[in-house]
Amino acid sequence: MELKNHRDSLFSWCLFSSLLVSALVLESIMFACALGHTIRQDGSENYIDTPTVGQPWPMPVVYNPTLETVVLDDKNFQFKSVGGVHCDILTAAYDRYRNLTFGGYRKDRTQGSYPVEFVPEASIKDLLNTLEVTVKRPCQGKVYPSLKSSESYKLIVSSSLAKIEADEVWGALRGLETFSQIVYRKDSGEFQVNVTKVDDKPRFAHRGLMMDTSRHYLSLENILQTVDAIAQNKMNVFHWHIVDIQSFPYVSKRFPKLSQKGAFDPKTHVYSPEEVAQVVEHARIRGVRVMVEFDTPGHTLSWGKGQPGLLTPCYTGGKPDGSFGPIDPSVDSTYSFLKALFTEIKDVFPDHYLHLGGDEVDFTCWESNPSITKFMTKEGFGKNYSKLEGYYMQKLLDIVGKLDKGYVIWQEVVDNGVKVKNDTVVHIWKVQWQEEMSKVTKAGYKTLLSSPWYLNYISYGNDWRNYYTVEPLSFKGTPEQEKLVMGGEACMWGEYVDNTVAISRTWPRASAVAERLWSPKDVNNPDKAGARLKEHRCRMVRRGFAAEPVTGPGFCDAEFGN
Ligand SMILES: *[C@@H]1O[C@H](CO)[C@@H](O)[C@H](O)[C@H]1NC(C)=O
Ligand SMILES: *[C@@H]1O[C@H](CO)[C@@H](O)[C@H](O)[C@H]1NC(C)=O
Ligand SMILES: *[C@@H]1O[C@H](CO)[C@@H](O)[C@H](O)[C@H]1NC(C)=O
Ligand SMILES: *[C@@H]1O[C@H](CO)[C@@H](O)[C@H](O)[C@H]1NC(C)=O
Repeated sequence: MELKNHRDSLFSWCLFSSLLVSALVLESIMFACALGHTIRQDGSENYIDTPTVGQPWPMPVVYNPTLETVVLDDKNFQFKSVGGVHCDILTAAYDRYRNLTFGGYRKDRTQGSYPVEFVPEASIKDLLNTLEVTVKRPCQGKVYPSLKSSESYKLIVSSSLAKIEADEVWGALRGLETFSQIVYRKDSGEFQVNVTKVDDKPRFAHRGLMMDTSRHYLSLENILQTVDAIAQNKMNVFHWHIVDIQSFPYVSKRFPKLSQKGAFDPKTHVYSPEEVAQVVEHARIRGVRVMVEFDTPGHTLSWGKGQPGLLTPCYTGGKPDGSFGPIDPSVDSTYSFLKALFTEIKDVFPDHYLHLGGDEVDFTCWESNPSITKFMTKEGFGKNYSKLEGYYMQKLLDIVGKLDKGYVIWQEVVDNGVKVKNDTVVHIWKVQWQEEMSKVTKAGYKTLLSSPWYLNYISYGNDWRNYYTVEPLSFKGTPEQEKLVMGGEACMWGEYVDNTVAISRTWPRASAVAERLWSPKDVNNPDKAGARLKEHRCRMVRRGFAAEPVTGPGFCDAEFGN
């Protein structure tokens, strides 16, 4: 993706002006700038959003807390499946949610060690000590989440009983997350929850985060933590933009040279088959799909190093000049390679959908190459290189379609008039996305939205509000067209992102997108959401994420690194 910042940032203006002026003037400009950013959209200055206590993010469809509270027996607390045999997903979830619910709180509150010792005000028999989980269609064997998974659940907390009811295990996972969020610790050290009713389901089925591991390498640990954050924000897709121009860290068993030659470092900056499998499994048991992207025919420079003959040699003055363009669509060897590679990928990534890219194909190299010109003439394409791109994409989609996979492509493929199967998902990333959504859904394609959610564009202050107030269905279209919007993804491109900032730059800014895609349409007021986001951010910090402050001044009870 190109890096164009279409939002003028006041802060960059501030920095720039500061450089030009004397120290004295500088001080007053920076003061004005700082002041500018503590003014809230409703005009009030110098506010501090006091975090909420025990409120969920994203907001459920129905969330009815009462003023009645119940103390929990955190030491003996049990998560219990009732009715039916369950697969491994719930058992693993119970282990995780014991920690997520009761762990990570500041240890020094009572000078004791965790878990904090406390004398319950309530007598033991009044303590809530069990959460019962019922799944109507219990999972069996090794199941994976899919676009069709049901994530709906009901959570009921009364003074004597807490229970979750869900159709499928995926809903139970979301319910456990909500339960863990509405429990809070009091100053006395007691864990408490309000008597509450929740009835919940997501608004959109596809709620993703894209991370780019080609422009910079992200460690396995970082990716696993990202998947944790995705699940804890009730997102359900990790879109892994695994390779691109700059590096090819995916270790292919069938074509090991791709990473040996194409990775930044073939030993340290790669993802082995075992590591990839670990990511897929880590995601599966958290109800997160891993949708991998192998972007072609452009964005492939790193592929060419380990697969000679794959890329188009570019010509200058009638001679190859040593540089390379997109994949060469004119030779059969390209398609036998793609078929073998995607046959491997199909099994490595069990999700039904593969992302096949197709964005930003630069035609100049194809135009320069005489054998491509010859091929164009033979096929009757004239000088229309969109037709050549279409020819390539069609063949690729046929190969992948035969592998029984669905596919997602970036919008340019259809913008360039390429005919694709009607079940193709078109991923929208360019500005003027409303027009594009109208056009693409009118043509009958399913879509995913990302244009307003490029989190790699950073700016000073409350930029989460911009992501939060986007309405994905605010385009011209019929109800049938709206049904084709499967959801969207926040994108974190990696040109300026590596392990040092991947988590902090993404979270909790991606949480704004998570709520937009999960919660009802009318949960869209950032003034109301700020205090809850502040709690959510601190909850993420307590759970070990370096989630940055995004709602202005304040503090977390458990600060990062404490
Ligand atoms: C929970 O109950 C307490 C005590 O009545 C009340 O102060 C608090 O606002 C309630 N929390 C929520 C989320 O309603
Ligand atoms: C829960 O926390 C404990 C203590 O920090 C840790 O040893 C354990 O591995 C954690 N369990 C899970 C499932 O994360
Ligand atoms: C090039 O081909 C595409 C795809 O067939 C078509 O949509 C487009 O109109 C053509 N462009 C020109 C200039 O003929
Ligand atoms: C999509 O195409 C298939 C056959 O290619 C057809 O059976 C199906 O009805 C089409 N679906 C839509 C929504 O047009």
